[in-house]
Amino acid sequence: FPAERIRNFSIIAHIDHGKSTLADRMLEMTGTIDKTQDNRQILDKLQVERERGITVKAQTATMVYEFEGQQYLLNLIDTPGHVDFSYEVSRSLQACQGVILLVDANQGVQAQTFANFYLAFSKNLPIIPVLNKIDLKNANPERVIEQLSSIFEIDAESVLKVSAKQGTGVNELLQAVIDRIPPPPSDRNLPAKALLFDSWYDKYKGVALLMAVHNGSFKLGQHITLAHANKSFEIKEIGIMYPEPTPLTSLYAGQVGYIYCNMRSVKEAAVGDTIHLLSSPVEPFPGFAKAKPMVFAGVYPMDQSEHTQLRSALEKLLLNDPSVECAVESSPALGNGWRLGFLGVLHMDVFNQRLEQEYGTQVVLTAPSVPFKIKLKNIKSIKKTGDILMVNNPEKMPNVQHIEESFEPLVTGTIITPSVYLGDIIALCLERRGVQIDSRNIDSERLIMIYKLPLNEIVVDFYDKLKSLTSGYASFDYEDAGYESSNLSKLQFLLNGDPVEELSVIVHTSKAREVGKQVCSKLRDTIPRQQYQIQVQACVGGKIVAREDIKALRKDVTQKLKYGGDINRRNKLLKRQAEGKKRMRMVGNIEVPREAFIKVLQR
Ligand code: GTP
Repeated sequence: FPAERIRNFSIIAHIDHGKSTLADRMLEMTGTIDKTQDNRQILDKLQVERERGITVKAQTATMVYEFEGQQYLLNLIDTPGHVDFSYEVSRSLQACQGVILLVDANQGVQAQTFANFYLAFSKNLPIIPVLNKIDLKNANPERVIEQLSSIFEIDAESVLKVSAKQGTGVNELLQAVIDRIPPPPSDRNLPAKALLFDSWYDKYKGVALLMAVHNGSFKLGQHITLAHANKSFEIKEIGIMYPEPTPLTSLYAGQVGYIYCNMRSVKEAAVGDTIHLLSSPVEPFPGFAKAKPMVFAGVYPMDQSEHTQLRSALEKLLLNDPSVECAVESSPALGNGWRLGFLGVLHMDVFNQRLEQEYGTQVVLTAPSVPFKIKLKNIKSIKKTGDILMVNNPEKMPNVQHIEESFEPLVTGTIITPSVYLGDIIALCLERRGVQIDSRNIDSERLIMIYKLPLNEIVVDFYDKLKSLTSGYASFDYEDAGYESSNLSKLQFLLNGDPVEELSVIVHTSKAREVGKQVCSKLRDTIPRQQYQIQVQACVGGKIVAREDIKALRKDVTQKLKYGGDINRRNKLLKRQAEGKKRMRMVGNIEVPREAFIKVLQR
């Protein structure tokens, strides 16, 4: 195929607007997959993706389409369906010359549509607006077209209408892809150069690299390297996704395909990197950045005896997800575990679900935290003065006396909602320290609201709250908005005056009392009464902000047997109690069961 007869495009859509169904239909209509075959939604591969109906890992497919007597090679480059992966979305878009903006004709424009539109728009890509699900009884194409023109200034004439489910309009859409999207710019005479836009791990063949070839060609047996890694690899297999990996002998400029090259770790294949021949270096594609984790959480086995099992489950998952950061961590209360860094909240949820589902391991996942930046004071006695420390673990928070200024990460959040919920949403955002940037109508019933919010305020339950406030009608999306100075405090917990370091959290000072109260009452409810009274306190820099008491109680397990108890039975009970104690952590002279820590630390 000459480059003029190649088209590389993506479908961008809000969750559930029908991206996978449309992709399936396109593959069917081009004969790439069999109609009768039971491989619906070939693009969504993981179990958790199926269950949650979201695409996490992008899957790409090539098809051949005949139009006006000519054969065209169409490369559908799938993009991950969620905000957490916006860097990956942006890299996938880099490999395309145009996009299909797919909007549910019943639901209309949603937060993700908005975010994805601007990603494509900022790259100057031609956008084909498409309404899906026009077969639905309550579809309201006219209203959605009005939204598209009012928000994005899209010309009503250019909007296509399809039913991905029934196949209506899909042929016209494939023709529009050929008509409205330009062929990839490419030069087959220049040295080989390709953009790496996705990768995955195959048990037998190692890492597969998905790439869009920009210049020249890549052939089986050639030695390649990546601009941002200094290692070389031999191409062991090269081919296209048709839709399963289909080996060829070479890939030419304009094409999209995969290579296997005995790469053993996805960490070596950073999305956005430039692939070239070892013998002829090229100018790398601009804008390369490594995805940076923004949400951190500790992961521990429910029971320490499952530590090895959990480790091997984690290792397997990490093989496929280079964007998860992982470091060994141990806590006196929870034992040996790991601290993981994720791109965002959904990324964390998906990872945790995979861990539990695919490996059958129950894990303790601690409440997520975000990376704060702490500027240290210039004090001679501390080693690093005036430095900026990244703190993603409260235990690493320096002493108040050493802190010059603290900063926290912010996001720009987009909310699209029926107008009736306006008041509730404003209240929620206010409670989460949000600042309104914009709020306007997108049609007679819907609003778009833009807020600046601290990431720390949305990592736990913002999305769930928003959904329940609006009966599921509001959609939310966010993007990174840098760091801002903030009044942060380390909130500590004390049992009879002894600090329990692993319970510490970093909070905005205005939230210290509220969070302190919550945790103190959880501790009161989960720590069993002991021979003496226990004071549970929350404090910030030595000042008590919340307090609960656990009354004293004498607990004698042999009491029932005082009169005429059998000695063996008595010993057995004492032994059982001793075993129970092993699972306790001593804080001063107070026994705290592991369950209490789990209750407080778990999300
Ligand atoms: P993500 O992978 O999460 O981005 O979702 P998606 O956009 O791929 O959505 P998917 O294709 O899974 O479709 C979501 C739901 O809408 C499914 O239940 C589909 O059967 C249904 N659906 C998709 N297209 C149509 C359509 O044209 N008409 C009707 N009635 N339903 C459709």
